Amino acid sequence: MQRLEGRVALVTGALRGIGLAAVERLLAEGASVVLTDLPDPGATEVVAVLGRLGPSAHYLPLNVAQEADWQAVAAQVRADHGRLDVLVANAGTDCTSRVEEISLADWHRVMAVNVDGLFLGVKHCAALMEETGRATRGGASVIAISSIMGIVGIADASAYNTSKGAVRLFCKAVAIEFAQKRMPIRVNSVHPGFVRTRLLEEGMAGWVEKGMGTSVEALMEGLGASTPMGRIAEPEEIAPAIAFLASDDASYVTGAELVVDGGWTAQ
Ligand SMILES: NC(=O)c1ccc[n+]([C@@H]2O[C@H](COP(=O)([O-])OP(=O)(O)OC[C@H]3O[C@@H](n4cnc5c(N)ncnc54)[C@H](O)[C@@H]3O)[C@@H](O)[C@H]2O)c1
Repeated sequence: MQRLEGRVALVTGALRGIGLAAVERLLAEGASVVLTDLPDPGATEVVAVLGRLGPSAHYLPLNVAQEADWQAVAAQVRADHGRLDVLVANAGTDCTSRVEEISLADWHRVMAVNVDGLFLGVKHCAALMEETGRATRGGASVIAISSIMGIVGIADASAYNTSKGAVRLFCKAVAIEFAQKRMPIRVNSVHPGFVRTRLLEEGMAGWVEKGMGTSVEALMEGLGASTPMGRIAEPEEIAPAIAFLASDDASYVTGAELVVDGGWTAQ
């Protein structure tokens, strides 16, 4: 069944990891997808990804922390597609450090990408999404990728924890705001557990550098062992939750947090 036939989705941080898996799933369900990420359209990785994904995949460069980028992308999506049904605010960055050692620059970098990036996306896409949402049964849908780290804290992750907690509550606040104003845009957060992506691998490499582990693979195995299901996730296991929230199957779901973590936060 093509749940997203005729729909247009925009995904940030779309060239790899969870973002790319979400793109592939949204395309498979019938949507046209605007991939956005940092590289220029002519970059080798962009050309390779678009070549593989086919004609329903489009690309626009977007640094989510830059307001001017969002203004340009929102205008371009309106001009190219005339609608925006789904915004997947996925782009994210990490910081692993003892709180006493986090530089203010690193703190601001994490907040700029993880929190400002979501705020600016919703701010500049809301008008087009509201128009679009009026024409579909389930309304338009913002899906923000938070984390289990937006629900519980862990050591040496205070900047990331803070940013992902902000994502979670921003979604609830805006979900209520839109619902009470009868704006047909649902807003929900997804909370993945540990997922095999470059972000996690680089985070683990940082732990190894700081003497907090012997190797990336050993740390990954440890994360899997700490998860009730006994393993970490693949990006393709997060994408179906995103597609559900994007679809009319979630027409009464707003302000919710969808945890996809192999049981990690149930402990
Ligand atoms: N991997 C995990 O274990 C895990 C767990 C929970 C949540 N998450 C969240 O999932 C999301 C995706 O992470 P991932 O694991 O796929 O990581 P990843 O590093 O594989 O992909 C992140 C993408 O975001 C892009 N990006 C970074 N900064 C950007 C910016 N300023 N503007 C635009 N794009 C930018 C990168 O270019 C990259 O394509 C992030 O929000 C992350 O915090 C990841």
